[in-house]
Amino acid sequence: MSLSIDYTLAMHRGSGCGLLDRHLDAETAAFERALAQVLARVRGGELGFWSLPSEAGALDEAVALAEATPASITDVLVLGIGGSSLGGRAVYEALGGPPELRGPGERRIHFPDNSDPWRLRRLLEVLDPKTTLALSISKSGGTTETAATTLVVRGWLRDAGVPMKDHLVLVTDPERGSLRALAKKEGLRALSIPPNVGGRFSVLTPVGLVPAALAGIDVRALMKGADTMRARCEQSALRENPAGLLAVLHVLHHRLFGRHVHVLMPYADALRATAFWFVQLWAESLGKRSDRQGRIVETGPTPIPAVGATDQHAQVQLFMEGPRDKLVSFVEIASRPGLPIPKEEGPNEYLGGHTLEGLLDAEREGTARALAEDQRPSLTMRLDTLDAPHLGELLFVWEAATAIAGELYDIDAFDQPGVELGKRLAYGLLGREGYEDEAKRVRDAMAADPSDYRL
Ligand code: PA5
Repeated sequence: MSLSIDYTLAMHRGSGCGLLDRHLDAETAAFERALAQVLARVRGGELGFWSLPSEAGALDEAVALAEATPASITDVLVLGIGGSSLGGRAVYEALGGPPELRGPGERRIHFPDNSDPWRLRRLLEVLDPKTTLALSISKSGGTTETAATTLVVRGWLRDAGVPMKDHLVLVTDPERGSLRALAKKEGLRALSIPPNVGGRFSVLTPVGLVPAALAGIDVRALMKGADTMRARCEQSALRENPAGLLAVLHVLHHRLFGRHVHVLMPYADALRATAFWFVQLWAESLGKRSDRQGRIVETGPTPIPAVGATDQHAQVQLFMEGPRDKLVSFVEIASRPGLPIPKEEGPNEYLGGHTLEGLLDAEREGTARALAEDQRPSLTMRLDTLDAPHLGELLFVWEAATAIAGELYDIDAFDQPGVELGKRLAYGLLGREGYEDEAKRVRDAMAADPSDYRL
């Protein structure tokens, strides 16, 4: 067993935070029903993400694409947003990145996910189209930001006179959408995202695997780790099931004690992007207006990304003394290359002989214990080391926990109706055909805004 979870400080006996063994025991039946429901949906083919780690197709395709990509391609531009960017970035930054720390001969992967021109404009200034591969990733093929950045990059490639077929690869639905149509029209290489895998659960499809394989990351080991975790997450005993435990602990702290703010705080810079990936997964999956009976519940936890020790100098003040509405999940990397701290006489002499990773460990333990002394709960996810198998485990356990938590909250964790209205109103403002009513609705609302609140 490699990823372990120490939830002592999430329990009353560990931190005085209120959660008792009998609460966990009382939730066992609900967990068993939730897991059975998730696995039934997996078997029925509805939840494709669960089976990905044991399937070879996407993995082989990603590896083949990476092998066929010449060494002259030094940079990859990933054009995607939300689930079509965050997972790839999480894998790359954990195991290969960031781009500024890549060595000679190591391909750099860039994720200018936003349509904000600040990053993309600069990237197009400094990159050479002849040595760049663009990966346009969109499951629907219709996401505005990705459509826009893809048009910009296609213009850049066209202006440079490089063949589109060699410099643009698409990752999209196998049949539908404008990217698939473009691939067919221009004979571009295109890899498929399985229709039964939602965007934020797509890190183990070509969405995450292709950028990782292009960076030289061992994607087979990543999948193997995820598969190890998949098997553990099918255990029917709550205290044996890492995803079940994560889901139940978070839901119980929320439901019984109002701890609806869920912090993921790895003590590892390399997992910063993973914390942001978790935020999307948890927020977009679990924040819902209606439950599955159609009742208005307006429920959902608020995820917060944090990184130790950096956030000890930013958010930990709030975690320690602010509202008692949080459950913090620390991530510890037990063993990694250390950087020894030389000894010097003076006030910092106590640091000499330690390593920077030892310092991080002490700070994580200190923070967890300080929270516990004030009856503020936390748990620690422990990875033996940060490599591809362990990252695969970490990613899969949160995906599985999200699915189980969705069942416990009795909401649909796999839709996102709340993001639609804003998109439609923006289409109206952009003059998209068919959205004239939306344009009028925004303009009328803006005209009706009271004018006395402007400085
Ligand atoms: O999780 C989701 O479904 C979303 O965050 C999508 O990934 C995001 O909106 C991008 O969608 P698409 O891949 O269709 O461009």
